[in-house]
Amino acid sequence: MKTGIIGAMHEEILLLKKDIQRLKTEQFGSREFHSGTIDGKEVVMALSGWGKVAAASTATTLINHYQVDQLVFIGLAGSIQAQLHIGDIVVANQLIQHDVDLSRLEHFPEVKSPFWKDFSFKVLPQSEDKALQAVETFLANLKKGDYPAISKEYAPQVHLGAIGTGDQFIASKDGKMRINERFPQILCTEMEGAAIAQVGADYQIPCTVIRVISDKADEQAHDAFAEFLFENISNISVEIAKLIL
Ligand code: ADE
Repeated sequence: MKTGIIGAMHEEILLLKKDIQRLKTEQFGSREFHSGTIDGKEVVMALSGWGKVAAASTATTLINHYQVDQLVFIGLAGSIQAQLHIGDIVVANQLIQHDVDLSRLEHFPEVKSPFWKDFSFKVLPQSEDKALQAVETFLANLKKGDYPAISKEYAPQVHLGAIGTGDQFIASKDGKMRINERFPQILCTEMEGAAIAQVGADYQIPCTVIRVISDKADEQAHDAFAEFLFENISNISVEIAKLIL
């Protein structure tokens, strides 16, 4: 089983590079792909950059050039629902491109593709189970003191549900409301997950998306995001990624 691991920013995933044995780095387009093994498991890691196009392009290279068997994305998200707090972890069971709207083209038969209405993609139950197990193990190890770089005070809730993706950093009550009115099931919002899920669906490659809540997608989102990014995320995402392998 070869796993493609994607992060949008180096703070989110690059620490993992130091754990890759037999490291080989190659460049495709503007991106570097780091391949090798972690504890005997084959991995290829890449930074996508922000947004759906960057994520889709990265996923396509991982599938076509490296022939990965699964895609894993770990990173940050803004919460849309009040019950999600900063630091909580969301495992996707569905990924929705909240900024796609073809409703005015309803009468075009070609728009009636499998995704036409809401560009929504289900996560396979086995990928979902594996991700939930990895997060639970991460939290148990954390409690035991296995991760000195992460505060033992960190005790997040874990949520399973829909993650929304759009080419927008949401930072207002209005923006949150727009997403919530159209897709009340969306727990949190980010900028890559459902693009990777669409590429995965095209090639029948299973996808896992895990997001840590960095902000509440409201007027304070920018400051909260920056603070969380620099203090916490790298060690959390790297430990969870290793457990998924
Ligand atoms: N990633 C982290 N926070 C986000 C937000 N508020 N909107 C979009 N993507 C995000």
